[in-house]
Amino acid sequence: MARPGFDITTPGLRIAPSLLAADFAALRPQLDAVVAGGADWLHLDVMDGHFVPNLSIGPPVIQAVRRVCDLPFDVHLMLTDPMKYVDAFLNAGADSITFHIEVTDEPHAVVETIRAGGAHASVCLNPGTPPAALEPVIETVNMVLVMSVWPGFGGQEFMPESIDRLAAVRAMLRPDQRLEVDGGIDTDTAPRVRRAGADVLVAGSAIFRAPDPADAVQRLRAAAERGAAD
Ligand code: DX5
Ligand code: ZN
Repeated sequence: MARPGFDITTPGLRIAPSLLAADFAALRPQLDAVVAGGADWLHLDVMDGHFVPNLSIGPPVIQAVRRVCDLPFDVHLMLTDPMKYVDAFLNAGADSITFHIEVTDEPHAVVETIRAGGAHASVCLNPGTPPAALEPVIETVNMVLVMSVWPGFGGQEFMPESIDRLAAVRAMLRPDQRLEVDGGIDTDTAPRVRRAGADVLVAGSAIFRAPDPADAVQRLRAAAERGAAD
């Protein structure tokens, strides 16, 4: 069920640290640090070893983190069969759930299942998928996530062609719909994606691999704000 204070409809910048790059033996202090740095959302990457060639976390970890962190939970499902697991992630405390357009011929059914559980629904586009693939469902979602790397691993280099893709998707969205970008976001790429219309910036390595994650959140926000002002 989406948290009462979770505002996904108002335009504006959000910084969403990706837990994937955190030290899993020290989650609590790392979460406290990004909260202290002013993080807006927490991005949680779920991988099934099938849609992407890697495994990550599932509902038990999200449920545990939910108990010690009040940020809105932005759950990114890199799964071949999201329908099978939506309820488990709703129960674990997801506020928004993102599924990949590449895995389903029935995106409306996935959106409706997410909404029925009280969460916001978002759809994701891989680097190789044309933005036109979003057309059947784009009017019904709260957010579109544009991958700026091939999903599956943190720490990859930002794909420069993502800038044009972000601008193309932004042109398809209403002001109440968010545009999220994920992969290779740091203080160099943040102003560029912001200028292209992204308003939710996911960052793993740039925040959790920095010596001071709280400071890294602030620096990323400042860099993104420069992009909007240019
Ligand atoms: C990649 C994940 C990302 C990842 C980003 O498949 O979806 O959320 O954590 O990591 P960085 O910011 O290191 O590219
Ligand atoms: Zn992600």
